[in-house]
Amino acid sequence: MYILGIETSCDETAAAVVASGERVLSNVVASQFDVHRRYGGVVPELASREHLRAIVPVVRQAMEEAGVGRQELAAVAVTCGPGLVGSLLVGVTYAKALSVSWGLPLIGVNHLEGHIHAVVLEQKQKGDTLEFPALALVVSGGHTHLFWVRLEGEEYAYRLLGRTRDDAAGEAFDKVAKLLGLGYPGGPVIDLLARHGNPRAVRFPMAKMKGNLLDFSFSGLKTAVLRRVQGAGMEEEIRRRRELLRSKPNPSVEEWLETTPQATLDLMASFQNTVAEELVRRAAAAAVEHDARGVIVSGGVACNSWLRQQFSAAAVGLPVFFPAPKLSTDNAAMIAAAAWPKLLRRRFSDLSLAAEPSLSL
Ligand code: KG4
Ligand code: ZN
Repeated sequence: MYILGIETSCDETAAAVVASGERVLSNVVASQFDVHRRYGGVVPELASREHLRAIVPVVRQAMEEAGVGRQELAAVAVTCGPGLVGSLLVGVTYAKALSVSWGLPLIGVNHLEGHIHAVVLEQKQKGDTLEFPALALVVSGGHTHLFWVRLEGEEYAYRLLGRTRDDAAGEAFDKVAKLLGLGYPGGPVIDLLARHGNPRAVRFPMAKMKGNLLDFSFSGLKTAVLRRVQGAGMEEEIRRRRELLRSKPNPSVEEWLETTPQATLDLMASFQNTVAEELVRRAAAAAVEHDARGVIVSGGVACNSWLRQQFSAAAVGLPVFFPAPKLSTDNAAMIAAAAWPKLLRRRFSDLSLAAEPSLSL
């Protein structure tokens, strides 16, 4: 049974066709990096406009690549929140239109549930079993959420154990990259450059949480990096990196390294290591507290190579599952996969399905 998935919650227009929640027939992602890059972050109005431009060709391409006709589809699934309201509206409205004109059931999917199902999908693909209950850490530009996931029959149930009280982990990467003159998005560049730095050169204090010990906080770390940058006379190297970015949107590692002294590489590596330590520490604490059989880590930050290394089974005492990078960042295959158990139980949405920017899971 084929599900067409549509995802437009932030700055990626994505469509995918997935068979029975486990076989990806197509997974098309049109990214808007080039539009937002010059503003150093996602501009919501521009994002909606780009989604409008891209949605029809992206869905068409996903159907063509899958080699599936509309009459073969069992449902159309769409992200209905959380996210940017204007962006969500494009996907939700288009999915409703397809549902009516193609006579298909409509399934609204929570974006965070999608990120978790990226791993469920991949494990099914590999024929591996993912045991539940599991912990799921969703770490992206907009979210740092830790869930406890149970499977009741065919139905998944989620309990939020902790979340960030300020910046999301990806947001911290993006803000630190911006202040170091590394452009947007910041995660991938810091990931590459931090490989040349010493992750233990700078000891940043760990966030101390009052109340829920499984909550996260990254704004203090971002401020600590800012103070170091301000006190270190780094204006000249930052100016050179900004200039490099203006002359070339995607500099090579060698070009970045030419403008980046060792102390700055050490700073990046230490920042990245602190983020990883915070994430691993909370997941390990949650694993002890809850009866979990495994840990799922998903979302854009799950692409981070140092985080993947630090999140070993030894560190959390449980098997750890990361999706392939293409399924970690925003995509529609994860949305179609999350819709599969809902299709089995005929949990359909009607045309009153709304775009909900702060939808919770
Ligand atoms: O899941 P995603 O594509 O979109 C959201 O739902 O936010 O995540 C994007 C975020 C950005 O903040 C980006 O900087 C971060 O994921 N990111 C990374 C890496 N690749 C993407 N952060 C750290 N290391 C990476 N390799
Ligand atoms: Zn996301």
